[in-house]
Amino acid sequence: MSDRANQLISDILRRIHEAIVENDVTYEEYQTAKQWFIDVGEAGEWPLFGDVYIEHVVEEHAFANRAGSQGTILGPFHVPDAPLLDAPFELPHRPDEAGDRTHVSGRVTDADGKPLANANLDIWQADAEGRYSGFMPGPPEGNLRGQVRTDADGRYEFITVIPGPYTIPLDGPTGKMTAAAGWSPWRPAHIHLIVGAEGYEPLVTQLFIDTSDYLDNDVASAVKPELIVHPGPAGDGTLAITYDFALAPVRTPALA
Ligand code: BEZ
Ligand code: FE
Repeated sequence: MSDRANQLISDILRRIHEAIVENDVTYEEYQTAKQWFIDVGEAGEWPLFGDVYIEHVVEEHAFANRAGSQGTILGPFHVPDAPLLDAPFELPHRPDEAGDRTHVSGRVTDADGKPLANANLDIWQADAEGRYSGFMPGPPEGNLRGQVRTDADGRYEFITVIPGPYTIPLDGPTGKMTAAAGWSPWRPAHIHLIVGAEGYEPLVTQLFIDTSDYLDNDVASAVKPELIVHPGPAGDGTLAITYDFALAPVRTPALA
């Protein structure tokens, strides 16, 4: 066993033991918790639980001093290898896709403002009813998922619809724990992105829609003020969001 594993496991167990003693946890409560651990495993919800209640602290701490734009949690609904889109860079969607049509555009630069050509933006989001393709009934596979590249000036654009807010699944053990604690299960409306360019740290982030409910009460605690965007009128009956991303240089691996 490594020193690191020993240190981490010991510390986490010690804090659990302290919480049990400080809160006079009963045997009945221990049995309830044990059954809940089993239920989370059987429902396949450990990734969901981790991304809702733990990931944000890892992200905030790991990237506290990183140069460039703010990131936030990845969450459980990313699907790799979404199609690379050509102009007009419209995310795949149903012919009758609900929601306000929106042009998103901006630049990708390094942390000093130098434009990055051929940077990749991997984009995914829920539909206007808060449903992710591939995970929830309704939207077809690949709906509202795609990738775009920046031009020679570092500019990108894509067309989408404003997503809806959504709840984590209410009927599974994570949702039941959330209800038992009396917490809101909602996430505010957001668009996920991974922005990458050769030689730079991939930026995993989300853009939060400023008109959405739940911005100040996100169950996943992933909202940062720098990531809240305002969809304004584009003049042609659609909406427009502009947002620039700045990437930090790739970290030099520590010497062995
Ligand atoms: C999401 O952003 O899609 C998400 C994040 C954490 C838990 C569930 C969903
Ligand atoms: Fe999401």
